Amino acid sequence: MTTLPEVTAGADELSIWPASTSRLPHGGLAVGGVSLAEVADRFDTPAYVLDEGEVRARCRTYRDAFPEAEVMYAAKAFLSRAMVRWVDEEGLGLDVCSAGELELAVTAGFPPERIVLHGNAKSPRDIGAALRLGVGRIVIDSASEIARLAAAVGPGGHQKVLVRVVPGISAGGHEKIRTGTDGQKFGLSLTDGSAQHAVARVLGQPQLELVGLHCHIGSQITEVKPYVAALRRVVGLMARIRDAHGLVLPELDMGGGHGVAYRPGEPALDLTALARGLRGELASACAAAGLAVPRLAVEPGRAVVGPAGVALYRVLSVKHTGDRVFVAVDGGMSDNPRPALYGVRYAPRLVGRHSGAEPRTATVVGRHCEAGDVLAADVELPGDIRPGDLLAVPVAGAYHLSMASGYNMIGRPPVVAVADGAARLLVRRETLDDFRGRDVGA
Ligand code: LLP
Repeated sequence: MTTLPEVTAGADELSIWPASTSRLPHGGLAVGGVSLAEVADRFDTPAYVLDEGEVRARCRTYRDAFPEAEVMYAAKAFLSRAMVRWVDEEGLGLDVCSAGELELAVTAGFPPERIVLHGNAKSPRDIGAALRLGVGRIVIDSASEIARLAAAVGPGGHQKVLVRVVPGISAGGHEKIRTGTDGQKFGLSLTDGSAQHAVARVLGQPQLELVGLHCHIGSQITEVKPYVAALRRVVGLMARIRDAHGLVLPELDMGGGHGVAYRPGEPALDLTALARGLRGELASACAAAGLAVPRLAVEPGRAVVGPAGVALYRVLSVKHTGDRVFVAVDGGMSDNPRPALYGVRYAPRLVGRHSGAEPRTATVVGRHCEAGDVLAADVELPGDIRPGDLLAVPVAGAYHLSMASGYNMIGRPPVVAVADGAARLLVRRETLDDFRGRDVGA
């Protein structure tokens, strides 16, 4: 790709874009030194663009904010072999929740001992892969899996485990992604005694070594307070475990859920404040309980990769209906189900051409056969937006491809990495041949 002239992007509207984003002449925008219009021409649309430098910088920000803690990247946000390598090279661990994520990571060279396996319903395949590959930790999520896991490990075997505790703290960007209170499917309740009960059962299985507790209260959380409150409760349980069983647990995994801004001006979780809050509360709660301070772990997914991604779409049609304008693009709910699922609002913008037209309110919709296939309702776009225009949606790196579907056989978009002025394909586009290949019936 051509070398681009550097123009600084200072405006607030680019505050949620990767730090490498720069303005080009004639309304162009570059990420990682690569023009988005060039990416669209070369790789077609829709496409996800991932800024490698931004991912790496975010990993480093975590390492700097939590120098004494284990930072485990949550693979469910986005996983590919390149991502596995970046996370490894930047010194993070990995959180996986299926044999699929686990095998992809290990076959891409990730050290299994730095992997933690989650899941409220682990399949025999998940457990088999975890034991075969030697994952560092398995997180117990229900009482019924304890005996099953112990049996799979076998009498002579050994596996380190954590018990996932539900602390009774409500937090998170949407009801569907809140996991800190009772009445949802994850973890073992602290308030009704299930967590304590599970701990006792794990201790009764000699091949399972209980090394700590785990607590993930939800996702897209933008305040430190609920984390600190949850930590205090979980340390309280650690003290009770010490009193009841004489066991001092050396590890405490506080999960992920660190919120990011999807639109300019929205709040994001302050990582430095989070680190300070967790560290301070851990020290004081442990001192008050006379406990040795356990090793802290965190599991960010979205905050590592979300803001490093940009989704690119081509406008296919512009429709004026009553007083509304619908801008339809060549993707939609199959590459981003998040607006439909959680009501998330995005900030698309025109790229690749300068428009002097007055902005007008429009709704960006997808091409799927549902009226609910809305990518961004009521956003300001240039009044002369037209078919052929390129739209870019920032903060598309997390839970876009990983939640993408085959709806309407449109096919999942490719992932294009950009770094130092060059673009390269990480994940190719899903094609009709892929759909046809899986269709093996008569
Ligand atoms: N650890 C555990 C145990 C988790 O369940 C999750 C996310 C994470 C860490 C990472 O959370 P993050 O830092 O990425 O928020 N599909 C939803 C998000 C679901 C999150 C599920 N668990 C979305 O698109 O917002």
